Amino acid sequence: MSTFRDFKVKDLTAAEWGRKEILLAQEEMPGLMALRKEYAGQYPLKGARISGSLHMTIQTAVLIETLIELGAQVRWCSCNIFSTQDHAAAAVAVGPKGTVTEPQGVPVYAWKGESLAEYWWCTEQALTWPEGEYPNMILDDGGDATMFVLKGSEWEKGSVPELADDDPEDWCELVKALGQSIVKNPGRWIQTAASIKGVTEETTTGVHRLYQMAEEGSLLFPAMNVNDAVTKSKFDNVYGCRHSLVDGIMRATDVMLAGKVSVVCGYGDVGKGCCQSLRGQGARVIVTEIDPICALQALMEGYEVKRVEDVLDYADIYVTTTGNKNVITLEHMRQMKHNAIVGNIGHFDNEIEMMAVERDSSVVRENIKPQVDRWIFEDGHGVIVLAEGRLLNLGCATGHPSFVMSNSFTNQVMAQIELFNHAENYENKVYVLPKLLDEKVARLHLEKLGAKLTVLTDEQSKYLGVPTSGPFKPDTYRY
Ligand code: NAI
Repeated sequence: MSTFRDFKVKDLTAAEWGRKEILLAQEEMPGLMALRKEYAGQYPLKGARISGSLHMTIQTAVLIETLIELGAQVRWCSCNIFSTQDHAAAAVAVGPKGTVTEPQGVPVYAWKGESLAEYWWCTEQALTWPEGEYPNMILDDGGDATMFVLKGSEWEKGSVPELADDDPEDWCELVKALGQSIVKNPGRWIQTAASIKGVTEETTTGVHRLYQMAEEGSLLFPAMNVNDAVTKSKFDNVYGCRHSLVDGIMRATDVMLAGKVSVVCGYGDVGKGCCQSLRGQGARVIVTEIDPICALQALMEGYEVKRVEDVLDYADIYVTTTGNKNVITLEHMRQMKHNAIVGNIGHFDNEIEMMAVERDSSVVRENIKPQVDRWIFEDGHGVIVLAEGRLLNLGCATGHPSFVMSNSFTNQVMAQIELFNHAENYENKVYVLPKLLDEKVARLHLEKLGAKLTVLTDEQSKYLGVPTSGPFKPDTYRY
């Protein structure tokens, strides 16, 4: 591990490879590159100290370097123990102008295969600024950095909770990490929370957490819900997963998907992309849902809708996409076919009851290769679990491609600019970006794909009651 200067990555010598891939990715990220051009010389993020917690991939490297070009200072960690691309982390640490012997990049703390203790340590490093300074913005994916600050501040005002035997390991490690940091430097999280102008949140699960906190009054700064920009959730969640789900399954198992019975749990945005992805490979797809509207949508697309319990004796592949917990349980796995494949593409690993699997001494783990395990049950049948139940598209493959991430990250940058410069206009609630900006993000990505947009005539504009420059739809429109 290289720990030279203020960063920790796996192998700094991978920086040159990472830089080449960053340059390729830039060409596929027209939205981010257009923002760099639009704000050249203006530095709308000057003075911003952004602590970022988001998968440390090549695409994220382009995001980080865009924030820097716009004037921000940045510290970074990944939001998942398996999602870092080590060459991307190395390139970001070295920076576009640095060298391996003289790195000049960003303080990044991320490597593929962190332990949970290391994960929270990295999160703390991303939130730790030089003496006397605190972050004033958070850029989050899943809400862990936000939770770290808010729990830290809450526990400094009260006390650090006791741990129980049945607490999940990541919670135990969080409590330990935060507990130690409070003892070392009491009051720092209260001060950190007070200095933060706002958080911009990338994903559905993080957004759920934010709305819950806003409702109970524990959110201490405004939040921008980037996920629910149309150009994020209707693109990244759908088409990103359509690309990266089968990529992850195939890299991990090399199994032929055609003809296999595949179960997709959840038919929201991610589920819709996953179903298309599996069907595209010729798999026979079954959906499970709790919501009658989504279940009916699945039927209308030609998928069967069943319960997990009904398919255990014949399904070959299970993918969870719900953002919920215990969707695939230990009992389910006990009854699955020999060598059934189980993976999760939702944000947290608790969609699959991994803690119960790991703690049941009658189930034996056989590691096949990194991020692929076969769990063998007493009767001898095995179940292949991908990425230890963590998001398989980033654990077993490289996540979403650059073009779709450009949409998501252009929203992220615009949300950072807005909250950093106009925090006083926002209460400690959760907001979405205005539709005109959403349309701007889409517009920035049309040319690359050779699209020519039709322009409303004045007559048509009056007839529809829609301005020629947008917004073209009311906020209630569902796309
Ligand atoms: P969504 O809310 O659109 O969809 C989730 C669906 O799961 C809903 O339709 C819900 O009714 C259904 N559901 C909930 N509990 C269920 C259960 N017990 N059984 C069956 N269905 C159930 O959310 P979205 O945007 O699809 O995100 C899902 C998860 O994926 C979130 O955790 C999100 O953060 C994550 N995500 C992961 C990405 C990745 O690259 N791996 C990309 C984008 C989002």
